[in-house]
Amino acid sequence: MSKEINITVCLGSACYARGNEDHLNYIEDYVRLNNLDAKIEISGSRCEGKCSDGPNIIINGTVYNHVNAVMLKEILDGIKDGLAVSEKK
Ligand code: FES
Repeated sequence: MSKEINITVCLGSACYARGNEDHLNYIEDYVRLNNLDAKIEISGSRCEGKCSDGPNIIINGTVYNHVNAVMLKEILDGIKDGLAVSEKK
């Protein structure tokens, strides 16, 4: 069964060099520390063909461009809150 949230981190050389190595580590730590492993799938991808907009991260089909640490934390907090809400239903 697939998980509720699929996060794909572009690990092509441009995105990797521009921060996605750190972003991937941050996402993995965030998911583990918040016990979200059962709900969030993390994967890496090769170049998404949009290097100039990178670093790029794709979440459930939505592409986030120019990702930075602040933005990433906001996105993950939003996902965590959304999952908590869906759990209470
Ligand atoms: S390396 Fe990420 S889009 Fe090309």
